[in-house]
Amino acid sequence: MSIDYDAVIPNNVDLASDKRLQRALQTWQPSFLSWWQDMGPEGFQADDVYLRTAVSTEPGGWAQFGYVKMPDYRWGIFLADAVNDRRIGFGDHMGEPVWQEVPGEYRNVLQRIIVTQADTEPASVEQQRHLGATAPSLYDLRNLFQVNVEEGRHLWAMVYLLHGFFGRDGRDEADALLERRAGDVDNPRILDAFNQACPDWLTFFCFTTFTDRDGKYQLAALAESAFDPLSRTCRFMLTEEAHHLSVGEDGVKRVLLRAVELEREAPDGDVRAVGGIDLATIQKYVTYWFSYSLDLFGSEISSNAADFFASGVKGRYREDHEWTDHVALDTVERLPVMEDGRLVYREVPTRNAMNELLRAAYVQDSERVLKRWNRALEEAGTDFRLSLPSTRFFRRQGIYAGQHFDREGQPISAAAWEAQRDSWLPTAEDRAYVASLMHAVTEPGKMAHWIAPPSRGIDKQPVEFEYVRKA
Ligand SMILES: [Fe+2]
Ligand SMILES: [Fe+2]
Repeated sequence: MSIDYDAVIPNNVDLASDKRLQRALQTWQPSFLSWWQDMGPEGFQADDVYLRTAVSTEPGGWAQFGYVKMPDYRWGIFLADAVNDRRIGFGDHMGEPVWQEVPGEYRNVLQRIIVTQADTEPASVEQQRHLGATAPSLYDLRNLFQVNVEEGRHLWAMVYLLHGFFGRDGRDEADALLERRAGDVDNPRILDAFNQACPDWLTFFCFTTFTDRDGKYQLAALAESAFDPLSRTCRFMLTEEAHHLSVGEDGVKRVLLRAVELEREAPDGDVRAVGGIDLATIQKYVTYWFSYSLDLFGSEISSNAADFFASGVKGRYREDHEWTDHVALDTVERLPVMEDGRLVYREVPTRNAMNELLRAAYVQDSERVLKRWNRALEEAGTDFRLSLPSTRFFRRQGIYAGQHFDREGQPISAAAWEAQRDSWLPTAEDRAYVASLMHAVTEPGKMAHWIAPPSRGIDKQPVEFEYVRKA
């Protein structure tokens, strides 16, 4: 169905035919806009930003580019087209028709999953709200704002489900989404990674590479859901998410390439002496955000995850393509667990290991990113290579939390951990150094000293294009 842009809330769900829902969402809309003014990008609300807006939900060619003031962005409700006669693809209800309404027995579970996903969307906007003040170029500034407005739209996507299918409770949850704040002591966001500070652009690029990539995997698992409106919402969100991932991956790559260049120019190869971010520091940021993002998948062994799969609310990554046994009742996964201070392999029923299977798909995908970065390093003529730590390293959630592992995942003592921590993870000094480099570059086509230019612009525009025009 095509998108109705004449409506107060743009949508392709025929909102006009459901007056009660339309009224409820139109009541929520001013609260969203005032949250955006309070917590969205600071200092740029009056500027013209070269943004893409969804004009259809057809795969390919759904985006239209043009200058928009962010508060005028047409946030709305866009679902991917319904699949004819779609059937539940896994779990205990495999083969039954998908649900167009929420079954009573899964109402709480579905609501909790949707609220948890929804909460991450405004959280990242809040985490990133000061970054505009130090953007390394207008090109990067525009990409930041594109990510921000789309996270705002993802919030709309989830709030539509809460308002449309969960009655009074859903409306209350939608209100609460605008009340929690990333990093707030009294009323924080739900997941820990979304309460972490995002004070500099290296963090932003790592966050969009690794934390937005968690989003990709969660959305893909929910796109398999038996609850069809959730599936259709997530399928369209994934098309927007792909851009966020490329902003992150390409951003890190440009910092790497610049580091290699500066290493050559610097006496003794000391990149910091010539105002760049050195490769070792980039590695530490990569390690930190990869590890932090692993926590978002939940515990390796989880009865909740088993219930989600059994009931059909959440599947695996590409359930249809990557798996043949969609019931997963008689199989096991072998997981390394800690027993008496040693790692031993234990068999866990596959359904209880669903979080770990999704995490494993994410790790594989992250390894592919590392490969591409390392190829770029190789082409730039350096021997330095980036790597990812073990999934047991520096975890705060799941079965490895509260214990110490080295980067390769071997158990070590607390003292050994302390002794090596600063060589693995960013130190206060590293962070202060990176922060000291953050200054806005606002001349079209110019880049901050510590980052290489992108290889091409947005929407076939040149890199020198004025992607953000000051009011
Ligand atoms: Fe998102
Ligand atoms: Fe995202």
